[in-house]
Amino acid sequence: MQIKFLAHYPHFATPLAHYHYAEWHDLLPLWSYEEALTELENHAHSLDLPTTIVAVEHKQLLGSASLIIEDLPESELLSKYASLSPWLANVYVIPSRRGQGVGRALVEAIEHHAQKLKILQLYLFTEDQAGFYDRLGWSRLAQVPHQQQILTIMSKTFAP
Ligand SMILES: CC(C)(COP(=O)(O)OP(=O)(O)OC[C@H]1O[C@@H](n2cnc3c(N)ncnc32)[C@H](O)[C@@H]1OP(=O)(O)O)[C@@H](O)C(=O)NCCC(=O)NCCS
Repeated sequence: MQIKFLAHYPHFATPLAHYHYAEWHDLLPLWSYEEALTELENHAHSLDLPTTIVAVEHKQLLGSASLIIEDLPESELLSKYASLSPWLANVYVIPSRRGQGVGRALVEAIEHHAQKLKILQLYLFTEDQAGFYDRLGWSRLAQVPHQQQILTIMSKTFAP
């Protein structure tokens, strides 16, 4: 398996947008498939921030992760955290390859990339995967209700 920039595999933008939209449209009902695709097509031209990386094996797409400037959905309860930036987002592994270290490799690659960009702190929110990020050394900052769910906001700090 290799971790590469989406910019090197721009044809993966469309299948990734389908995966992302199917995974998260219940949580983000105002978000459309077209927005998902536009974001990824933009990232397919960007190697710093925002950007998306992909896990690839034998030319097959295994998963993704993004480094983006803003990620939180708009809501009064979340507004307190709206100024936090940048965010780890779009962490996704295809179902048949979960539990094999692909997610860890993607998150660690984004962390490494952020450190190369001199970013000292990264944020994420998750509906139900806080345990995964705990394993990767992230800290829980807050739990905030959103769309009948509880979102956990987490962060990771890097040494300068
Ligand atoms: C969450 C997700 C990215 C994890 O990817 P993965 O490739 O299965 O994870 P890995 O195999 O790299 O797991 C890394 C470690 O986390 C642990 N882990 C994985 N999922 C976990 C969970 N839900 N709770 C607790 N620990 C978890 C693994 O056991 C492993 O531990 P170890 O390295 O100490 O043995 C994947 O399940 C997924 O794509 N889910 C759907 C999309 C999603 O929810 N993304 C997160 C949005 S915030």
